[in-house]
Amino acid sequence: MGQQRKDLILDMGTPRLTPPATPDFYSYPWTPLAQAVIDGDFVALTWPDGTGLPAHGWWLRECVVADGATDPVTRELTIDPADLPDDLTVTSVAVDDDGALAACWNDGFSGTLHPGWLRHVADGHHRSSAGLPTAIAWTAATMVEPPTFDGPGALTDDEELLAFLEAMVTFGVARLRTLPVDDTGRLDEEGQPVEGLARLTDRIGVRRRTNFGDLWNVKAEITGDHENAIANTGFRLGPHADLPTREVPPGFQLLHCVANTVAGGWSTMADGAALVAHLETEEPETYEALTTLRWVFFNRSRDHDHRWTGPMIDLGGRGRPLTLRAFYPVRGFPDMDRADVPRAYRAAKRFHQLAADPGFQIRYPFLPGDLIGFDNRRMLHGRDVFDPGTGVRHLRGTYVDHDEIHSRLRVLRRHTRLTDSAPDGPASIETGRRSASTENHDKEFAP
Ligand SMILES: [Fe+2]
Repeated sequence: MGQQRKDLILDMGTPRLTPPATPDFYSYPWTPLAQAVIDGDFVALTWPDGTGLPAHGWWLRECVVADGATDPVTRELTIDPADLPDDLTVTSVAVDDDGALAACWNDGFSGTLHPGWLRHVADGHHRSSAGLPTAIAWTAATMVEPPTFDGPGALTDDEELLAFLEAMVTFGVARLRTLPVDDTGRLDEEGQPVEGLARLTDRIGVRRRTNFGDLWNVKAEITGDHENAIANTGFRLGPHADLPTREVPPGFQLLHCVANTVAGGWSTMADGAALVAHLETEEPETYEALTTLRWVFFNRSRDHDHRWTGPMIDLGGRGRPLTLRAFYPVRGFPDMDRADVPRAYRAAKRFHQLAADPGFQIRYPFLPGDLIGFDNRRMLHGRDVFDPGTGVRHLRGTYVDHDEIHSRLRVLRRHTRLTDSAPDGPASIETGRRSASTENHDKEFAP
């Protein structure tokens, strides 16, 4: 390979006529490599702008799209790690005439890898948070009411649905207006549910069914043996997140207003990410108690016994999002040393005080046709007290996990805006606080 030929390609960014397939179904810009050097078990890759990637030889062997490595049809790995030779090593590497990586291994396998695909790994754009919008924490000073979109539009237009989902992921909450109301389960002439909530969530992915059902009702109608949740009363519901009784509480909740003629009962919402950031900075003792002292949460029911033990502010682990376990109606027992119980209660009191503080919380009416979608593990939602005797307040609701929302969002972005381009950079919650980040990132990544 002559240097002149290589420089010409680098200057022009010329793609190959038939670039190597990538281990996915995205398209990547052709980003020619400058250098590839074997460095022990790794291959040190370098691009002309100085960006580097230490790529393990076994990982590169897996990522070649060819029989005996990544299957060219499904783009999934076919190598059982148990079958990898103990002494598998890269025997030679080169940057070919077009800037792709060519490599040979001592098991007789050889292959070429797309330099743009390798570059997206070097840039960290392969992680689970890639392709998602950057989340922004808010307070009542920066958010007056939920970002609002057209309900019928979200049912038929991918751009409208994408805008709604992006806002829901960015701010933790978004609203649709005039979404068709129907709670009969009827289908239209095309076999689609008439109910807007069902149609919307069908367009997103799989709903998460719980012991409350698939699509459930919120009505002030508890009588006799129907005592299933305090939500089905006219009581005030303080700021909370649903189902902390589960190992993984539902990711998103969607509530659709069917009818509302009662006096009072306004909805409330506070961003838990902002609240957590405030506590970490301004009230470290309370923050420490809320993030470390554990409670047993369990639902009271004749037919179900869900329990989980965890702190009220569950920071999760690497790559796992913030989870607030903050539904006092189902907080059962302190699960901590006796000496810690008093400060655990003081911290819980402070947490709920702040969540209802006008500085953090917004309030808004819930109109028939309105749908509120929110991150159930990040947001703290609630409602004011109302008198069931003054009219009817009927909501329909369901849960959809983070995975479903994020997958639909990535695919919609690919189809409507990026035309099969690779996902862009990783997302995090912009609070300046490590604790509210959706994913922790190593300073260096070495696959
Ligand atoms: Fe709730």
